[in-house]
Amino acid sequence: MSKKLRLAAIGAVAAVGLTACGGGGAGSGGGNDTANADPGDLTIGVAMPTQTSERWIADGNNVKSQLEDAGYQVDLQYANDDIPTQSQQIDQMITEGADLLIIAAIDGTALSGQLQAAADANIPVISYDRLIRDSENVDFYVTFDNFAVGQAQATALLTGLGVLDESGNRTDAAGPFNIELFAGSLDDNNAFFFFNGAMDVLQPLIDDGTLVVPSGQTDIEQAATLRWQQETAQSRMETLLTGSYNNGTVLNGVLSPYDGISRGIITALQNAGYGPNLDSTPRALPVVTGQDAEIASVKLIQDGVQSSTIFKDTRNLAEQAVTAAKAFLEGDEPEANDTETYDNGVKVVPSYLLPVQTVFAADIQSVLIDSGYYTQAEVDAGQTD
Ligand code: GAL
Repeated sequence: MSKKLRLAAIGAVAAVGLTACGGGGAGSGGGNDTANADPGDLTIGVAMPTQTSERWIADGNNVKSQLEDAGYQVDLQYANDDIPTQSQQIDQMITEGADLLIIAAIDGTALSGQLQAAADANIPVISYDRLIRDSENVDFYVTFDNFAVGQAQATALLTGLGVLDESGNRTDAAGPFNIELFAGSLDDNNAFFFFNGAMDVLQPLIDDGTLVVPSGQTDIEQAATLRWQQETAQSRMETLLTGSYNNGTVLNGVLSPYDGISRGIITALQNAGYGPNLDSTPRALPVVTGQDAEIASVKLIQDGVQSSTIFKDTRNLAEQAVTAAKAFLEGDEPEANDTETYDNGVKVVPSYLLPVQTVFAADIQSVLIDSGYYTQAEVDAGQTD
């Protein structure tokens, strides 16, 4: 029997055993008697959204290798940003007898059925970076401080515009500065945290006239980018340029919540004749923010094309996911550092939030290279080996 089949058989037996004895709720820990099992006999299903974004590839690799280092079997799947594919992958993990699931959802509201099946089979579920909504069967959430990410993006925008100095103090630059706002995918809970965090910083300056949004598009629904797609952002930026900037209005800054979106925005700008460092022309590239420190964007930052990004160390996120997984499998509860913020519509999910760091060109060395996240050669090439 192949190892996979053997594990599936063990899983099926375990599931039958649990049904027979009623078991505890998912996340009660040890319901599957995983506490007494050898880690090598336990399989963790890891469901990731897409391989088109380099950050999720890094997340998948980090989670897999750290779980394997801890001795577990890992079933890592990517779903190509397709919701039915992800649902089916998770169904299959459950049928094959996964002992725990780590899920970064594509659509945070689309997995209630899968999570019910997991709960019925006493499989703990850890929501990875993106909160799974509308289900009581989410046992733990590992992520970054997403509201702080939005605040940091807005602060980086203001620093890039010269409204704030390096210490974060208000300068005497009065503006008005013209900006446009982009948000993430509305089916991703994080998009709201990023946008609300950013608006927490920007709204007072919009109210006092320091910042102006010439398109008038200041609602998250107007600013949203389905599936965080680069092409979608590029096309919206093209429309904004045509609609609000063809008359010579200068665009000073763009709030972007994610590096892929930033690259779409930058492509639209470059296609329209905007270039770097042309202070004397009305077509100087505006200040563009980002998130994830994707290698292609780090190179753009080094080259002075993108202004900033927010670094979220996926190695640490993977580590927290592994720590939480171990706790559940050993019959314990993982330690949360936030039990108030993340209401998924049904319950407040105990969470572990990690801090984030803003990266401008001057920070690439100290934050990304010295920490071993990238090498200088990778930054120069704009791609990882
Ligand atoms: C969010 C995540 C961001 C970014 C985005 C697009 O859920 O928090 O860091 O990766 O998805 O992938």
